[in-house]
Amino acid sequence: MSNNSIGLFDSGVGGLSVLREIRKSLPKESFIFFADQSHNPYGAKSEKQLQDLSYRITKFLLGHNIKLLVIACNTATCYAIDYLRSKFKTPIVGVVPAIRPAVTGTKKGKIAVMCTPATAKSSYLTSLISDYATFTSVLRLGCKNLEESIEYLEGGKITKLLDIYTDKIKKFGADVVVLGCTHFPLVRDDIEKGVGPHIKIIDSGKAVARRVKFLLAAEDDFSTKKLQDQYFTTGDPQKFSEVASALLKHKVVARKVFI
Ligand code: DGL
Repeated sequence: MSNNSIGLFDSGVGGLSVLREIRKSLPKESFIFFADQSHNPYGAKSEKQLQDLSYRITKFLLGHNIKLLVIACNTATCYAIDYLRSKFKTPIVGVVPAIRPAVTGTKKGKIAVMCTPATAKSSYLTSLISDYATFTSVLRLGCKNLEESIEYLEGGKITKLLDIYTDKIKKFGADVVVLGCTHFPLVRDDIEKGVGPHIKIIDSGKAVARRVKFLLAAEDDFSTKKLQDQYFTTGDPQKFSEVASALLKHKVVARKVFI
């Protein structure tokens, strides 16, 4: 039994889509959310940079006694989860594109993965596809600039980019779309509108929440006392607080941090 918090990090507000799901399934747990906004976008970083940033953030969160770490970012998971696991003993849950459920769900044998350019070309995604999607056609759609436009809530740009990307999905003929970036569930309705009603959209949020619950249960590590959740950003705390408050539908006050 431990009342320590669960730590999460992302390059920005996208990880809040994961926090939302975990919180729904574990309302008594406390959370520390870290948004590395001064280094956003992660999708344009090298493996070395992603490992270095993830290491520094994990150190910071462990300094706040987290009992479990969630890498609430597909890109950082693909490039840094093995590295972090080799450095730290704390249980770590990552977020990766939900290839397996997409393969189960497709009737046409065609799925599309919307993700950052870095995730699209990662060997992690390649091995997920060769493990689970050998007989399925997969469109690896690195959605350049989409994550940033969601991070900065640039409505017009989001619409333009989604037109381009959803068009590619329709031309490819996928009947299942995987949201392989944690920013994308934040514009799920717009993606749904773009691809049309007959295409199924899947993200990893609920699966991550189930995994976190499973690990806490296995260690008998559920909290009995809810603490105040904490939010940190390497970017502008006021801006982050505004966006996070709107997304989570309660008041968030973030603090500035340097790593
Ligand atoms: N939310 C991150 C992900 O899931 C975005 C990474 C980025 O900053 O490009 O991949």
